[in-house]
Amino acid sequence: MKSQTNIIIPEREIKNEETNQQFLKDVLEGLHENPKHLQSKYFYDKRGDKLFQEIMAMPEYYLTRCEMDIFQNKTAEIAAVIRSEDTPFDLIELGAGDASKSLHLLQYLDKQNTDFTYMPIDISGNILSVLEKKLKNNIPYLDIKCLEGEYFEMLDKAAKLSSRRKVVLFLGSNIGNMELEEAYDFCRELRKKLNKGDVVLIGFDLKKEPNTILNAYNDPKGITALFNLNLLDRINKELKANFIVEQFEHYQTYDPLTGTCKSYLISLEDQKVTIDSEDFLFIKDEAVYMEVSQKFSIDDTENMACKSGFKPIGSIMDSKEWFIDAFWLAD
Ligand code: AVI
Repeated sequence: MKSQTNIIIPEREIKNEETNQQFLKDVLEGLHENPKHLQSKYFYDKRGDKLFQEIMAMPEYYLTRCEMDIFQNKTAEIAAVIRSEDTPFDLIELGAGDASKSLHLLQYLDKQNTDFTYMPIDISGNILSVLEKKLKNNIPYLDIKCLEGEYFEMLDKAAKLSSRRKVVLFLGSNIGNMELEEAYDFCRELRKKLNKGDVVLIGFDLKKEPNTILNAYNDPKGITALFNLNLLDRINKELKANFIVEQFEHYQTYDPLTGTCKSYLISLEDQKVTIDSEDFLFIKDEAVYMEVSQKFSIDDTENMACKSGFKPIGSIMDSKEWFIDAFWLAD
C-alpha cells in the first residue's frame, strides 16, 4: 500500500516495491497463459542462489567447469583477441556475480600491464560490493567501476562514463535461458548500445550427446528439481500464494533435433491455487513451463551474430569441446 504521509522512503525500498509489483504481474500473466508459464529469471532469490551454487558443483552440471577450463587454460588466447586492437578499453561483464571465471582474465591482463577498466554490471548492489572487495584483494591496482542495475541501462551509463572501446562479457550460456526470438532481440539491442569495433565475448553451451545434456538438468539428487520448485515457495512467500509444493513434480526434456532443453513442473492433482486473491486451477498432469536452456551448434551461434549486426571473428572451446566462448565484432 502506498503511504499517504510525507515519509521519505529510501530508494532501495521503492525499488523493492516496484520489483515486487513486476514479479506479481509476470506471475499472474504467465499463469493466465495456455500452457501456463513461470519465468526462470525469478528462480534466484536467496535460496535459489544457494541451489544454483549447488547445481554448479554437481558432477552432472558440466557447463561451469567447461567455461572455467576456457578462462583458466586459454586466457592468453582470450587476451590476444581482446588486445588485438592495441588501445585502452572498458571490460564490461553482464551479470558478473562473483566473477570467478573472469578473475583469471583480469589477473592475466593486469600482469601484462594492460590499460583497461573493469565494469561489472549486476542487479544486486550487495553482490557488487562483495565482488569489489574480493577483486581489490586479488588485484590491488585493478581499475574497477561497479554498475548496479539493468544491463542495457548500465551499458548506457558505461558509454557516458568513458568513450573508450568496449569489450562485453556475457558468460555462462545465460543466452540459452532466453526464448530464441528473445535472444535475437537481446543481441540486436546489445549491438545498438555498442560502437563499431567493440567486441562481445559470449558463452554458448553446445549441442552434444543428448544424455549428457539431459543428466545435467535431471540430476539424480534432485537439486534441479528443488531449484524449480523453490519458485513456488518464493511465490508463496512474496506474493501471498498457497501453492502446496509437494503437489508438483519436476519434469525435464531435451530435444536433440532443436537443441532445446526445457523444464516443467507437473501438477500431481487437480488443485486450486490462490495468488493475491486470484484463483488458478491446475488439472492433474498439467505442465507448467518453467525454463528453457537452449543448446547451440557453432553455425547457430554464427547465424545469431550475423542476424543481430555482429561479425563472428572466432571462438574458443574447452578441452571437451562441449562449450564455446565466441567473439563477435560490432560491425
Ligand atoms: C543460468 N543458466 C545458464 C543455467 C542453465 O544451465 O540453463 C540455469 C540452470 N537451470 C537449471 N540448471 C541450471
